Amino acid sequence: MVHQLLSSTENTIVHDHIALRTFDDQKVQIDALMMPLVSSGYTCKAKYTFPKTHISAQHYEHPDGSLPKVFISHLECHHFSEKFQATIETLLTQIPQNLIGQWDFFLTARPWKISFDSYETLKNENAYAAWVAAFGFRPTHFAVQTNLLEQYSELTTLNSFLKTHGFELNNTGGEIQGSPEVFLEQSSLKAAKTLVEFSDGMYPITGTYYEFAKRYSMPNGTLFNGFIPESASNLFQNTNSQAFTLDRSDAS
Ligand code: NI
Repeated sequence: MVHQLLSSTENTIVHDHIALRTFDDQKVQIDALMMPLVSSGYTCKAKYTFPKTHISAQHYEHPDGSLPKVFISHLECHHFSEKFQATIETLLTQIPQNLIGQWDFFLTARPWKISFDSYETLKNENAYAAWVAAFGFRPTHFAVQTNLLEQYSELTTLNSFLKTHGFELNNTGGEIQGSPEVFLEQSSLKAAKTLVEFSDGMYPITGTYYEFAKRYSMPNGTLFNGFIPESASNLFQNTNSQAFTLDRSDAS
């Protein structure tokens, strides 16, 4: 996989951030899930909204800058049909209460059973929700920070290297999201399909992916540590099992 490929040419690989997803339901809201990480020193640094897709997000940083930032988003479920909300509810009620608040919550297996039919019901209304229903709360992606890479700190060079080795890049909105002018550039590999267990069989679903982030210094000399909403909007779509067109005005 890509981590092995990079390790073969680079000494140090630093993770820039991990990306997590949840719903705005009280049981699994961002604050509840982030509690163990907040206890260990992470603090919320910024909030982002994506009104057209009913998603909001927050990013957290740890005082130890070598630890990855956490970008966590949630879907506002009340914008969707009653059937949709009821389906989400049947998933959330299956989560053992003692699981919430554990430090390894985001590493645990999907804490519910779901039929492929219910997955399709969700997918018809919202791809983000369907992804969480299929995979649970695992990170949607890990992002490597390219600043410290010796050979591949430039995303254009890194992208060519990856393509030469058979990796496919996500090109929704272009292979590189953002620019030095907004102090952040991002590229991501196309999310690959993986077999997911449903209560009525195994089905291939678009899964997780790897991302690369290059950060730039702001005029005050410090490295930009935030996220760019327009880039994030395009990157969200990487996990869609069906492509859809983004209304660019969502990125404001
Ligand atoms: Ni990311």
